[in-house]
Amino acid sequence: MIGAASLGCARPVTFSAADIAAAPLLAGAPRGFFLGAATSAHQIEGQTHNDWTEWEKGRYPDGTPHVADGASAARIADSWDLWRSDLAALQLIGANAYRLGIEWSRLEPTPGAWDEAAAARYREMFVGLRAAGITPIVTLYHFTLPTWVAARGGWDWDGAPAALAAFAARAGAAFGDVVDWWCTINEPNVLVAKGYLAGQWPPGARDPRRAALALAALMRAHGLMARALRESDRADADGDGHATRIGIAQNLRIFDPYSARPVDGIVAGAADWFYDESFLDAVTLGRVRVVLPGVIDIDEPFPALAGSFDYLGINYYTRDLIVGRLDRAHPYDVAAAPERPRNDLGWEIYPEGLYRLLVRYAHRGWPLFVTENGVADGRDVQRADFLRAHLYAIDRARAEGVDVIGYLHWSLIDNFEWSHGFRGRFGLFKIDFNDPMLARRPTAAVAVFQQAARNLGTLR
Ligand code: FCB
Repeated sequence: MIGAASLGCARPVTFSAADIAAAPLLAGAPRGFFLGAATSAHQIEGQTHNDWTEWEKGRYPDGTPHVADGASAARIADSWDLWRSDLAALQLIGANAYRLGIEWSRLEPTPGAWDEAAAARYREMFVGLRAAGITPIVTLYHFTLPTWVAARGGWDWDGAPAALAAFAARAGAAFGDVVDWWCTINEPNVLVAKGYLAGQWPPGARDPRRAALALAALMRAHGLMARALRESDRADADGDGHATRIGIAQNLRIFDPYSARPVDGIVAGAADWFYDESFLDAVTLGRVRVVLPGVIDIDEPFPALAGSFDYLGINYYTRDLIVGRLDRAHPYDVAAAPERPRNDLGWEIYPEGLYRLLVRYAHRGWPLFVTENGVADGRDVQRADFLRAHLYAIDRARAEGVDVIGYLHWSLIDNFEWSHGFRGRFGLFKIDFNDPMLARRPTAAVAVFQQAARNLGTLR
């Protein structure tokens, strides 16, 4: 268990607005630094059919829709057809990397099937990106399951890890010659927290034991996927001597105790272990290990996990100030940080947290890759400053010797923000979903991004 002292409290850090404003963003970053944006398949493509498609139609027993305003991802940004507009947006900002997803349910709509037409479309995208000097970083599993997997029990089905690994093997064989960078799983911790603890995402469970078992299954899935990819993708697309670069995108959150009360520190430490650390521990140890005191204690060797990371993908958004409550099932409340700005979804804007995480994870043996970072800001009043401050956090960490290899902004375009539907506007480019053309329109942050790209040398 990690104590409060190692959460970063021992080293308070506050950025000064003047330093951020004066910072020459990414000026010292090496040529190979990845600067770009991220999306996921279900959130932008449209025309997907998976467990979320079903969930989006549903309601809670009190009649509230599962997704705010009853929104659905049926058409959303239509990137399946409009992917060239996304490519144009990436070129406009001077990106040299793009993290995008491939949709398992699209490629394998029934067990063992492989949709050649869909695969050809993805290949076209990867080839198009590469021709524009943009490295594709491909996520294989970003929250959505084919309906046939969900029907067998989703992550409760003990065949799920092998099924996802079989999909990874096929993807490696189909796209390995144009893709080197793979992200096996996006945010296993968020999936488990939302789908198995909070009941807000499919399968809508609130069951700590199932949550722990699902997390263990996701660990096994990642290990098997990494092994499968290394076997099926032997082609070194960019000629750097590595056919595969594999990691996950882990949501890392800062859990700070709200007060000096011991219970706040203890609960913050426990939340931190389960959420931030347990998956990374599993990879370090080569063991599936999930411990929830009084609930479950899983600890078994799983050799495929060892050595499965070439990088650690960090998705960073916010911090939680923890008020411990040992007297009830949900062991904490999140206190509002006084005088801190918040985004449209109420998340604290805390760029120092990114710096703290980069310093904290600097010595785990993996290069660090910021695979998501962004802000829900429908009025476009926070994003430019947000981006500047978070790039500054990276520069500070890099100046102290932390090996940060890239920064990808979430998101390239406005998209379907899961249970928040259209209310979470994260795009560097905004989209009016009532516009028949679904035009991608630059936000104020595009100029900041371009400034960083010029400093890096990816934009003239
Ligand atoms: C992350 C998810 C991503 C998006 C952003 C806002 O947790 O990976 O799909 O929803 O949050």
